[in-house]
Amino acid sequence: MNEFQGKRIVLGVTGGVAAYKAAELVRLLVKAGAAVDVVLTAAGARFVGAATFQALTGRRVWHAMWDERMEIGMAHIDLTRGASALLVAPATADFLAKLAHGLADDLLSTLCLARDCPLLVAPAMNRQMWENPATQRNVAQVRADGVSILGPAHGEQACGEVGDGRMLEATELFDDLYASLRVKSLGGKRVLLTAGPTFEALDPVRGLSNSSSGKMGFALARACVEAGAQVTMVAGPVALATPRGVNRLNVQSALQMREAVMQELPGQDVFIAVAAVADYRPRKAAAQKIKKSASSLTLELDANPDILAEVAARPDAPFCVGFAAESCDLAVYAEGKRVAKKLALVVGNLVQDGLGGETNAVTLFDAAGAHVLPLAEKSEVARGIVAHIASLMEERRGQR
Ligand code: CTP
Repeated sequence: MNEFQGKRIVLGVTGGVAAYKAAELVRLLVKAGAAVDVVLTAAGARFVGAATFQALTGRRVWHAMWDERMEIGMAHIDLTRGASALLVAPATADFLAKLAHGLADDLLSTLCLARDCPLLVAPAMNRQMWENPATQRNVAQVRADGVSILGPAHGEQACGEVGDGRMLEATELFDDLYASLRVKSLGGKRVLLTAGPTFEALDPVRGLSNSSSGKMGFALARACVEAGAQVTMVAGPVALATPRGVNRLNVQSALQMREAVMQELPGQDVFIAVAAVADYRPRKAAAQKIKKSASSLTLELDANPDILAEVAARPDAPFCVGFAAESCDLAVYAEGKRVAKKLALVVGNLVQDGLGGETNAVTLFDAAGAHVLPLAEKSEVARGIVAHIASLMEERRGQR
């Protein structure tokens, strides 16, 4: 399932240095299976030439309202007919001003008015232009008109200044555009997740942990954002980039993870425990580095609280989802955990299928039985899990 496969995207490129990122974005979209029609404004063409976009899309680039390739001379209307989205990236301050006032004096601005597909814009400009009250007024108006504003990011700018106004990177625009095409099956819902391993300190430099990569939890967090949820993720120590749109809280130990979860829990609709929480922690963490002094060392361990079981046992428990990574007898152990912890759903996998890698093969265990999801990229598996959660929640609502 790839949202871009067979879809057509219209990409407007206005006159900003960030136009070079639009070329990279086109490459990503085409690779994902989309057909991309690029509309260049006169200023946009000064930054990246039509030949580049033509080569990347394999399609002619559009410039003018009077283009005779459109049968009845209606390029300003026909180009977005049947398109899945119109994205303007980069969108200059001037273009945002035109959009805010409904001006239509070239092909791209006309297409923005005459369309029945969603419009997304990625602002790109110098920080003073972005902060200017006129631009802020225009952005507020455009947003109120139902247009999605992607970014801008904060950072170093082409002019050498540092501030807000940088266009998002091509991969970020790709992700946001992808999300905009997804069904909002968790729209309006709040989701809390745990992800990654925990680290239980023995002394200032050593500790007990496990080899969880955090990839599945991070992919699920992103899939929940794509589905329209407001997502908070409590993450153990992993060096993964925070998925776009996810509010991330970093913790180390199981006790810290529990505390963060309990603090964030009120008002959550769904709790997904993906973290590989250490079952035990050293009874005492040494204040100073433990020195090698004897031929053997005995550690005393205390059991950690079971965060998921504790959340699921609350009278006001949200919809609870657990994970079971097993080395054998998956169905027996996973279903056993679901019943013992009173969970709506357990996502089970064999460790040899998922640990650390980019793909996973999981089976979903719920009250109705087992549902196998095929081996796929973790991002795709995550979308399958989210779809299942949404349908179970819908079923529950129907039963009430
Ligand atoms: N979990 C948790 N807090 C813990 C331990 C586990 O929230 N202290 C959650 C995990 O995030 C996961 C599920 O519970 O969703 C895993 O269940 P568990 O029975 O603890 O799995 P294992 O630790 O692998 O159990 P076992 O070693 O008995 O197989």
